[in-house]
Amino acid sequence: MDKLVINGGKRLTGRIGIGGSKNSVLPILAGTILASDGECIIDNVPNIRDIDAMLKVLKTLGAEVNHDGESHRVIISAKNIANFRAPYELVRQMRASFLVMGPLLGRFGQAEVSLPGGCVLGARPVDLHIKGFQSIGAVVSDKEGYIRATAEKIRGGEAFFDRPSHTGTENIMLAGALGNGITRIVNAACDPEVVDLANFLIRMGARIQGAGSTFIEIEGVERLYGCHYDAMPDRLVAGTYACAVAIAGGELFLENARESDLQMPLMKLRDMGVDVIQMENGLAVSCQNRLKSVDITTFPFPGFPTDLQSCFMALCAVSDGVSNIVETVFENRMGHAMELKRLGADIRVMGDRAVISGVEHLHGASVMASDIRAGAALVVAALGAKGTTEILRAYHIDRGYENIDEALQSVGADIKRLAE
Ligand code: UD1
Repeated sequence: MDKLVINGGKRLTGRIGIGGSKNSVLPILAGTILASDGECIIDNVPNIRDIDAMLKVLKTLGAEVNHDGESHRVIISAKNIANFRAPYELVRQMRASFLVMGPLLGRFGQAEVSLPGGCVLGARPVDLHIKGFQSIGAVVSDKEGYIRATAEKIRGGEAFFDRPSHTGTENIMLAGALGNGITRIVNAACDPEVVDLANFLIRMGARIQGAGSTFIEIEGVERLYGCHYDAMPDRLVAGTYACAVAIAGGELFLENARESDLQMPLMKLRDMGVDVIQMENGLAVSCQNRLKSVDITTFPFPGFPTDLQSCFMALCAVSDGVSNIVETVFENRMGHAMELKRLGADIRVMGDRAVISGVEHLHGASVMASDIRAGAALVVAALGAKGTTEILRAYHIDRGYENIDEALQSVGADIKRLAE
C-alpha cells in the first residue's frame, strides 16, 4: 500500500491536462457489451483502478479487451460474450460494476450480478435500478446475494425514478437500447456523463432523445455496432485541481476542463474569491487572497455535486468566516470531516450538516483516506497546510485520479508517494 506525503504551502503554477471521466468511461465500457458486431474503440480512458476493475468484469463475461494505458485507449470486442454472471469478487471492488446488468439484459435477455454490498457512503441500495428493469419488462429475483434479471426481450415502458439515480438512469438506458419498444425514463439524472453515454450509444446505432433532461426516451433497435468514441473530460478531477489552487494559491490552467460541466462549483469558487476564466480549451483558475466562507447544499446535477463536497469542505476549513455544508445526496458522506479535524480544522458535524469555522491555517498530521473523494479532500487540505501531512491508504485516491502525485508535482507541489 502507498501513502502520499505532502509538504504544504507551495504555490501551484502551470498546466494540468484533465483526462477522461471515470464516471463516463465506466458506463461506456459496460455499453460495449451491446455491440454484437465490430469493435468499440474508446479513447481518453484514464489509467485508474476503477477502470481496471470494470475491464476485469468485461473479460470475465467473455469480451476481448485490449488496453493500451499509454495512449489511453481501450479496444473491446463483445461478439463472443457467453457468460452473463458478474461475481461478487469483482463487483465488491467497485459498485459501478452493477452497470453490466442493463446491457447483458438488453442483448442476451439474462444477467446475474452480485449485489454491490456495503459502502462507506451509507446503504446505497440498487432498488431503483431493479424497479426500472421491472417496469420495462424484466423479471428480477434476488438469490444468495445475486440479482438475477431475465426478459425474452425488453418491451419498453416507463421507468420512474423516485429520485434521480445517476447509474440507475444509465442502466435503464443501456437495457432499453436493444428493446422491442420505447423505454421512457422519468425523473432521470441529468449529469453530463449520462449525456456522454447517450452520445456513445447513439454512435453505436441507438435511438435516444432527451439525455441531459429529466425525461429520456429510448426507442429500441435490432442491433448495435462497434464504434469509435472519445470520452468527456473528468469534471470531478478538474474540480479537485481547481480546489487545489484555491487553497495553495497560484495559477493553474486546467486543459480540457469545461465550465458547462462545473457551473455550480465554479460559482461557489468565485463566491469564495477565486478567479475562474473559461478559455478556448480549458479553465484558467487563480487565487491570490484568503478565501471567503460559503454555504453549500449538495444536489443532483445541475446542483452542487456531492463528489466535490469534501474538497470544498477543505477550502471552507481555512476560509474567512463560518461556512455551512448540507449533504442531501448520500446519508453518510461526512467521514472526511474527522480527518480534516486532525489537520486542525474546526468542524461541527450534525448528521448530514457541517458547520465549518475557518481557521488561519491547517497543520500537517497523519490522516487516512476512506474513499476516493475523501482522499482527494485530504490532498487539497494538505497542499494548503503548514508542515508535512501523510495520507495513508492512497489506493482510494488512485481509484479515481491518474497519478495525482505526478500531476501536482509538475505544477510545483511538494508531494511524494512512498510505501506505507
Ligand atoms: C454516481 C457516481 C458517484 C456520485 C453519485 C451521485 C458513478 C460511477 N458514480 O453514483 O460518483 O457520487 O452518482 O452523483 O457514476 N439510491 C437509492 N436506490 C438506488 C440507487 C440510488 O436509494 O437504486 C440512492 C443512493 O443511495 C443515493 C442517491 O440515490 O443516496 C443517489 O445515488 P446515485 O445517483 O444512484 O449514485 P450512483 O449512481 O451510485
